[in-house]
Amino acid sequence: MYQPVHLSDDIYYVGVNDRRTELFENIWPLPRGVAYNSYLINDEKVALIDTIEIGQVEKFLKKIHAIIGDKTIDYLIINHMEPDHAGAVSIIRELYPQIRIVGNKKTLPMVEGFFGINDNIIEVKEGDELDLGKHRLQFYMAPMVHWPETMVTYEASRKILFSADAFGSFGTLDGGIFDDEMDFSYFADEMRRYYSNIVGKYGSPVQKALEKLKGLSVSTIASAHGPVIRSHINEVIDLYDRWSRFDTDEGVVIAFASMYGNTEEMVEVTARALAEEGIKEIRIYDVSKTHSSFIISDIFKYKGVVLASPTYNSKLHPNMEALVNKLLHMGVKNHYLGILGSFTWAGTATKQLKEFGESLNWEIVGQPVEEKHALKKQKYDECRILGKNLAEKLISERK
Ligand code: FEO
Repeated sequence: MYQPVHLSDDIYYVGVNDRRTELFENIWPLPRGVAYNSYLINDEKVALIDTIEIGQVEKFLKKIHAIIGDKTIDYLIINHMEPDHAGAVSIIRELYPQIRIVGNKKTLPMVEGFFGINDNIIEVKEGDELDLGKHRLQFYMAPMVHWPETMVTYEASRKILFSADAFGSFGTLDGGIFDDEMDFSYFADEMRRYYSNIVGKYGSPVQKALEKLKGLSVSTIASAHGPVIRSHINEVIDLYDRWSRFDTDEGVVIAFASMYGNTEEMVEVTARALAEEGIKEIRIYDVSKTHSSFIISDIFKYKGVVLASPTYNSKLHPNMEALVNKLLHMGVKNHYLGILGSFTWAGTATKQLKEFGESLNWEIVGQPVEEKHALKKQKYDECRILGKNLAEKLISERK
């Protein structure tokens, strides 16, 4: 039994919640799970838009059956091939052997490579349409949002954009499916964590996709993760525009590693100086306690970053090294960077953090502060000066 969820007359939500998986892509924590969204259009021709991750397939098939009964599915639209969405392609094809798989020229080799399927295929190009009866679907390519084959599907009569990963967020849909049925603020944060960690490397392709979006009138964004958005359309498009341009708010993320508390003490002093100068949004994270996905998400939100690490075996602390490697890998742009470090017999951490900042073209603010042994008066004062300098940089940009 299943009470169908309508996006409009004969367009349905058939996604599922996953509260069991600990790590998305086996990397990113899921403290409140994740939803894999799929959509079914029960027109003269039946179309399924994306599938789900295979672990939840039983619930998924029950939902489809509750809507179409013994009818067949005529088309499977594959907007995105990552297995959190394409996981049920094989079983859908086995259950509905006449189904035709719809994808673009980059999708189809993946369909063959992952599933060995190369027949009953429809290849679509930019702007092509598929007539279902009352509804017509249009296809627009959105390469690298998040894989090369990614495309989005637009239903013009109801102005629904099936957007694949775009505008998706972590978090299960706990009763509410639509953004106006819930407190959306949690999902806005988790949308940024999804965007920054999963898609954040591809700011330029996202900008191109947003340009295309401007030509469409959209009343509903039906993403492949998180709430179906119908009340925050302009807000989420604006967020995507800003994130993909690495445009940030006033605030500072301070990420530190500290074995015995000396580096952490420098962080506290710097943070206090920032606050005294009027910076209200300050987030301090211990890289050994907080998963990097949350830190990276906040770095996509705030312009100021302070990185603080002791020297460890002549290198950065390993957990700080892991964070900066991820930031390098993502090519995160447009930040101010303050640098702190400590050491016992030979300091190299601040030098390495400076090289990191320079390689991303971040503006290094003031002088890196590196203390030997415990924090003493001179370096204490330098930490305060660094905090003050960073605050002044941020405040000078107030509009
Ligand atoms: Fe939600 Fe790129 O997969």
